[in-house]
Amino acid sequence: MISTWIILVSILGFFILLKNFIFFLKWIFVILLRPSKDLKGIYGSWALITGSTDGIGKAFAFKLAKKGLNLVLVSRNSGKLKRVRDEIQDRYPDIKIRIFELDFSEDDVVSRVRVMEEMIEGLDIGVLINNVGVTYPGAMYFHEVDEKIWMNLVRVNVEGTSYVTKVVLKGMVARRRGAIVNMGSGASIVVPSHPLYAIYSATKGYVDQLSRSLYVEYKPYGIDVQCQVPLYVSTKMASQVAQVERSSIFIPTAEKYVEAAVGFIGYDQPRCTPYWAHSIQWFFASLLPDALLDEWRLSIGIRRMKLTT
Ligand SMILES: NC(=O)c1ccc[n+]([C@@H]2O[C@H](COP(=O)([O-])OP(=O)(O)OC[C@H]3O[C@@H](n4cnc5c(N)ncnc54)[C@H](OP(=O)(O)O)[C@@H]3O)[C@@H](O)[C@H]2O)c1
Repeated sequence: MISTWIILVSILGFFILLKNFIFFLKWIFVILLRPSKDLKGIYGSWALITGSTDGIGKAFAFKLAKKGLNLVLVSRNSGKLKRVRDEIQDRYPDIKIRIFELDFSEDDVVSRVRVMEEMIEGLDIGVLINNVGVTYPGAMYFHEVDEKIWMNLVRVNVEGTSYVTKVVLKGMVARRRGAIVNMGSGASIVVPSHPLYAIYSATKGYVDQLSRSLYVEYKPYGIDVQCQVPLYVSTKMASQVAQVERSSIFIPTAEKYVEAAVGFIGYDQPRCTPYWAHSIQWFFASLLPDALLDEWRLSIGIRRMKLTT
């Protein structure tokens, strides 16, 4: 009887090990060998990127230009938009670039989005990178967050993403092809809570759930919706939130992050964390109890709050 149990447990253990080993091999293949898709051929010749004058959005613009896509760059500062356009055009003279100034935190965002809609009418926008996002100036208790900051976060992260998606989707549905990348965050997905940045992580939770539902809704129309989930990436935002001064293995530059991110577009993964070291961090976080992660995040938040006051 005992030996039957030992055999059964051994078989079970073998299959669990085998499953994990196959998962590991698949992960290695995706990280090292899986080719990136021909985005222009599959989805269309234009890409629209929001928040494209800095950080991850700017890196996406360069990378997609390198892949031969024409660009619509959307951001709030026309001087920066022109500078980024000229930099990209110098390096990739064969692509077309249009710029559109839109501050997602302003009151007139709906009418500006309508103007943008007219501007992109007739363009074969195959790829949308909903990258724009803002966070707090520093760690803060919920009751201390200024109403203006709170409204900005909701307007930019939630409304901005939703309006742009709606406008771009119309053309994609008509053409029956498209890829939409929404920028999520580990703050709402990898950790069970993000104390002292509650509104930021809640807005990213919205982005995640919106993406998952749109993924299902638009799959039959040939449109691939994906929520990409970065952890820290060395940008202006990361230096503001986590005093990140330099890149490292776990905190890649925006260019390194985007190199991985573009490779995930078009693969059937509604939610993914493209950068390899981020997925390792996510894996280890998933092994820890929620209560421990909650305590850890709270202590980090309190430490940061003390640093900035
Ligand atoms: N960096 C990270 O560690 C990290 C981690 C997880 C998720 N993310 C997400 O990744 C995305 C990009 O982050 P990032 O680190 O690259 O940020 P970033 O370096 O601060 O760049 C943000 C971009 O958005 C633009 N922008 C900001 N507010 C805007 C507004 N009201 N209207 C229009 N454009 C606006 C900025 O324009 P200006 O140049 O004029 O400021 C800039 O081009 C965000 O959605 C963020 O939540 C980042």
